[in-house]
Amino acid sequence: MNRQLAAITGIEAYVPEYRLTNIELEKLVDTNDEWIISRTGIKERRIQKEPGKAVSDMAAIVVKKLLQKTNTSPDEIELLICCTVTGDMVFPDTGNIICDKVGIKNAFAFDINAACSGFLFGLTTGSKFIEAGTHKKVIVIGADKMSSIIDYTDRATCIIFGDGCGAVLLEPSTNGYGIVDSVLRGDGSGREYLHMKAGGSLKPASLETVMNKEHFVYQEGKAVFKSAVNGMVDTVSKVMERNHLTKNDIDWLVPHQANIRIINSVADGLDFDKSKVMINIEKYGNTTAGTLPLCLAEWEPKLKKGDKIILTTFGGGFTWGATYLTWAY
Ligand code: UT7
Repeated sequence: MNRQLAAITGIEAYVPEYRLTNIELEKLVDTNDEWIISRTGIKERRIQKEPGKAVSDMAAIVVKKLLQKTNTSPDEIELLICCTVTGDMVFPDTGNIICDKVGIKNAFAFDINAACSGFLFGLTTGSKFIEAGTHKKVIVIGADKMSSIIDYTDRATCIIFGDGCGAVLLEPSTNGYGIVDSVLRGDGSGREYLHMKAGGSLKPASLETVMNKEHFVYQEGKAVFKSAVNGMVDTVSKVMERNHLTKNDIDWLVPHQANIRIINSVADGLDFDKSKVMINIEKYGNTTAGTLPLCLAEWEPKLKKGDKIILTTFGGGFTWGATYLTWAY
């Protein structure tokens, strides 16, 4: 008997209005437009500036649009997964806050903290509830307000990250297309290179942690870069091999948008034609859990039913992986 697949039946995304350009960053830190573009491919990123607004507010905008677009009532949603490292509060989960803001009352919700791999881990998790036959409508959100944990005096990190959010509706596939397979990985020893030092149970917030700027992203870029390329090439190769796919079978590669040089190295390592690679890093920078749904939403008008797509990510944890899906509409 064929397995019941979960399919993406709708996608929406949102980025805040404010554009933080390289020129503006030149005024904040010792950097320049040429260095940022040549080393990262980023021209600008969006920043959620309004006071009192958080990840749940971006997500609420996206979820409302998604429900409307897919003709779904909030009451029909049974599970909502919010993938983020910048949730509104340490607890409760932001997923619950989003449900409250959009009127979803018959669901349970939780967050997934897998940094840049969050959306991929969430997509796989959400699809399993559909495959098991227990749930029929699941929303998976990838959202981050990275500006809330970035030190705008640290040129090694402030040039990279931005804010953004995307979400998909998952439903049982009716045409055989959907989320087919994932190879997901983690290696906690990578935490040394990418983390936030304080604010958790290891080092609760104190005057000292604030003074030492320990509530911001800490990254050793070079170490992360190498692991990211290797990790994405390896998991994409594995998921292709497992599903008997060659590069010519794949219509789109959707890589995490962390650095154009990482994206190019991954495409080269897999010998993929660049015209099949979704890239929008120049407009948004690295939105952590937001990058994959922001790409899929932008390319949605070009996608065709049956298109073979591979999503791949690498991020803090370390966490990484690749998911193979066929577009369902
Ligand atoms: O999504 C989560 C996973 N994260 C990633 O995938 C990020 C991976 N890493 C990267 O994208 C890159 O490592 C960075 C963009 C963070 C840095 O690029 P890099 O080519 O690895 O630069 P680097 O850190 O090796 O620095 C090279 C030089 C250094 O100067 P010296 O020592 O050669 O004189 C830096 O001080 O560039 C300097 N530098 C800068 N110069 C101008 C570092 N940041 C900047 C800057 N502007 N913003």
